[in-house]
Amino acid sequence: SRVYISKDMASVALGADALADAFAAAGCEVVRTGSRGLFSIEPLVEVETGEGRIGYGPVGPGDVAAVLDGTHANRLGDVTALPFFVRQQRFSFERVGVIDPLDCDAYAAHDGWRGLDAARAVAPQAVVDAVKASGLRGRGGAGFPTGIKWQTVLDAASDEKFIVCNADEGDSGTFADRMLMEGDPYCLIEGMAIAAHAVGAGHGYIYIRSEYPFAIETMHAAIERSARRMAPFTLEVRVGAGAYVCGEETALLDSIEGKRGQVRAKPPLPAIEGLFGKPTVINNVLSLAAVPFILSEGAEAYAAVGFGRSRGTMPVQLAGNVKNGGLFEVGFGITLGELVNDIGGGTASGRPVRAVQVGGPLGAYFPPSMFHLPFDYEAFAGAGGLIGHAGITVFDDSVDMAHMARFAMEFCAAESCGKCTPCRIGSTRGVEIMDRILAARNTALSSVRPEPVEGLFSTLDEKDGASTRSARTEGGYLAKALYSRSPARIDTGLTAQTDLLRDLCDTMKYGSLCALGGFTPYPVLSALDHFPEDFGASAPIQDAAE
Ligand code: NAI
Ligand code: SF4
Repeated sequence: SRVYISKDMASVALGADALADAFAAAGCEVVRTGSRGLFSIEPLVEVETGEGRIGYGPVGPGDVAAVLDGTHANRLGDVTALPFFVRQQRFSFERVGVIDPLDCDAYAAHDGWRGLDAARAVAPQAVVDAVKASGLRGRGGAGFPTGIKWQTVLDAASDEKFIVCNADEGDSGTFADRMLMEGDPYCLIEGMAIAAHAVGAGHGYIYIRSEYPFAIETMHAAIERSARRMAPFTLEVRVGAGAYVCGEETALLDSIEGKRGQVRAKPPLPAIEGLFGKPTVINNVLSLAAVPFILSEGAEAYAAVGFGRSRGTMPVQLAGNVKNGGLFEVGFGITLGELVNDIGGGTASGRPVRAVQVGGPLGAYFPPSMFHLPFDYEAFAGAGGLIGHAGITVFDDSVDMAHMARFAMEFCAAESCGKCTPCRIGSTRGVEIMDRILAARNTALSSVRPEPVEGLFSTLDEKDGASTRSARTEGGYLAKALYSRSPARIDTGLTAQTDLLRDLCDTMKYGSLCALGGFTPYPVLSALDHFPEDFGASAPIQDAAE
């Protein structure tokens, strides 16, 4: 019989290769696909039957017989009928987990190339108009309208133009670009070919981070196999070398040009003077992968889904300490709480959710009191955060938010390209301030610490009834315990340090050349604003500063 098993990097990490070998050894025809996107049921095998595909997962190589005779305890039935999938609106990820990613015929049989055919049948301006009408905005994070970007490139007079795909997916907790490239590479290629027709470009580059060997291999193979279909448009893969900042569009262009990846000042915009000085469309994987649907199904069908000015769907990635980690493509407007609690199922540890970081290492931390926020570019910006590339990283109540703020500064210091002072120097000063805050907080804590750690909690719990948490991360818990116990005893030097931290964040936010230095204040200030107790504060910091 025929079975389907993912060869996505995450599935392979969970044992999908051994599972595939076991089914092949049992005489099955094994079709390797992308991942369905729910990692708690992987390794997953789907058996083709008269009633469609029947899933079993998680299963191992020893389960082959029980799966084939239908008696295995982890029988899931039709995987797409599971609650995790029923609520999704898969516009871009429709084929991922379904077909063999490199099978051109399967791609065509599942509506592939229809968008490209529709685009090539009309004039470039009509394609740009369709993308504008769809409301599609840049899925890399900034949310700039894709159609307007394309219009700028279409209008730029030049003998040569380029399409560049940004697949340097560097955000923590994100994997949608990788899953799309590994699971449906022709969809990305089709999106790039549509962009090429729309703006008059002849050649394209896909810039993939070196940490994605499977995606690199899959894209190479897919480019080769679809070359005739793409002609006259040609494509090549360029591999990054591990710098986070090369995900910034101008550093990425420098990197493709063979230079050290350093941020360029804008203007000129890449749309006017981009790769090798030529007008260049540079879009994230997810932006380009949304385009075939828009052209084949119509801009209205895409725009019909969404919230406010955020139209269409977003492939949300649930990661960190979450029960149902995975990829969840859904229309904008779903709330953060629905995503984390209903879809994600809360924490994997079973402890209460304390914070979620949305948008990678430069995204803000939100407490559960903000879970009513709808997933929408404007709503998140209004709440002092960003959607970014839609990675959601969940933390339970053992997290120390002051340590997370320190980590943001440390990350910025490590990844800074060094071009501008607020980021290059500011991030290092930020780490030093956080070290002083942590030291002062911990000293203040130890002065009221009556017994060893374990004892302290029971003592506090008994006397004050203030908290029933136990300690995984000592500092964070201690700070909270102290706050509820004796706020007056906290070292006042802490307030001076947090004021300094705010000043520094202000300078980095408004003085940095790119988002790396400019957005590092988001995680730092959101941690400070929403979790002041972890910084040893006895009251919200703003009040103290006023
Ligand atoms: P930006 O706002 O400067 O630009 C957004 C895009 O629109 C750029 O491609 C820019 O060239 C283009 N653009 C702006 N005005 C234009 C015009 N008039 N005509 C044509 N094109 C125009 O934002 P930036 O610095 O490119 O990106 C920042 C974002 O990157 C952040 O919001 C953050 O969420 C995201 N980010 C994403 C990461 C990831 O791994 N995907 C990592 C780090 C940050
Ligand atoms: Fe480079 Fe940082 Fe300045 Fe960006 S903000 S240009 S990464 S130094």
